[in-house]
Amino acid sequence: MKYNLLGNTGLKVSELCLGTMTFGGKGYFKAIGSLQQDIVDDILRTSVDAGINFIDTANVYSEGMSEELTGQAIHNLGLNRDDLVIATKVRGKMGEGPNDSGLTRKHIMQQVELSLKRLKTDFIDLYQIHSYDPLTPLEETLQALDDLVRSGKVRYIGASNMAAWQLMKALDYATYNRLAKFVSLQAYYTVAGRDLERELIPLLNDQKLGLMVWSPLAGGLLSGKYNRDEQNKEGGRRANFDFPPVNRDRVFNIIDVLQPMAQEKGTTVAQLSLAWLLHQPAVSSVIIGANKMEQLHDNLKATDVKLTSEELQKLDEVSQLPQEYPAWMLERTGGDRKL
Ligand SMILES: NC(=O)c1ccc[n+]([C@@H]2O[C@H](COP(=O)([O-])OP(=O)(O)OC[C@H]3O[C@@H](n4cnc5c(N)ncnc54)[C@H](OP(=O)(O)O)[C@@H]3O)[C@@H](O)[C@H]2O)c1
Repeated sequence: MKYNLLGNTGLKVSELCLGTMTFGGKGYFKAIGSLQQDIVDDILRTSVDAGINFIDTANVYSEGMSEELTGQAIHNLGLNRDDLVIATKVRGKMGEGPNDSGLTRKHIMQQVELSLKRLKTDFIDLYQIHSYDPLTPLEETLQALDDLVRSGKVRYIGASNMAAWQLMKALDYATYNRLAKFVSLQAYYTVAGRDLERELIPLLNDQKLGLMVWSPLAGGLLSGKYNRDEQNKEGGRRANFDFPPVNRDRVFNIIDVLQPMAQEKGTTVAQLSLAWLLHQPAVSSVIIGANKMEQLHDNLKATDVKLTSEELQKLDEVSQLPQEYPAWMLERTGGDRKL
């Protein structure tokens, strides 16, 4: 396992991060997974033994159960809290009241206490906003997050699911007001969904932010158990839950390249899809998800898969995004300003 710095910090995070969205099985997240304490303990033990030090959860995952099971597993396994980098999130709907979601000072301050309690810890390493809140002024959110960093309850703050302009606005506000800045973005990125490369990856490079990738197998679609002819061989989340949304034709064209390549290399399609992400320079950590122990074992081996430049080029060709304005115009007009 390799350790990368998370953005412009000195914090070392494992190149694979353990995702916990399959823990619990309550409410909306029931369709994703309902793993209970025994297997959660096994998953965490196996992950830590493989060198993972980074765990991602959220208050909304199974209505708090994911955080609770994760906190309990750390306790059950007797892990040293300080050896782990624990990331969680705030923003989603946690109740029926008018103030039970969003990024208000009130909701953030209430939810951080509940997350700390469920995780059985007195600090969160990376506290992330789960997405943008169009109703709350960014200033209110950023001041509240800064207060949490100063109080010691939170070590670093991160963003997730934001448009480039929203993220840049937040970074600038924090800079000019000397507030804690987001150190990372958690976003969807796969060989079959490279939209991030248009605006967000250039921003992350420019601003030196880390990138944590969510749903790296597009919810299982890139795991090898789906192809053009057999769309649902052995069941799974994708059977009746189309998330993240994809252009199926495009994905199956990519899987048509992944399958023989995996066979030739003696790896699995899942490992190859994860390895493609691990080869992208912007990626700090890939958040893996699993519903079964054998899936976890499969995915952990992705760190051993090396892709040649020819293989990377082949995957690049089949997955390239069509060029979009202003990218094509910037490429034309930038020709005279290259070193
Ligand atoms: N910030 C956000 O908005 C956001 C959104 C989504 C996720 N996340 C984070 O990202 C993590 C990972 O997301 P994800 O669970 O969607 O990741 P994913 O890797 O795209 O999908 C994981 C699912 O694919 C199937 N799978 C995984 N490995 C497999 C293998 N080797 N062979 C066959 N099937 C396999 C399993 O589902 P089945 O067995 O049901 O097929 C598994 O639950 C989450 O736990 C969470 O921490 C964040």
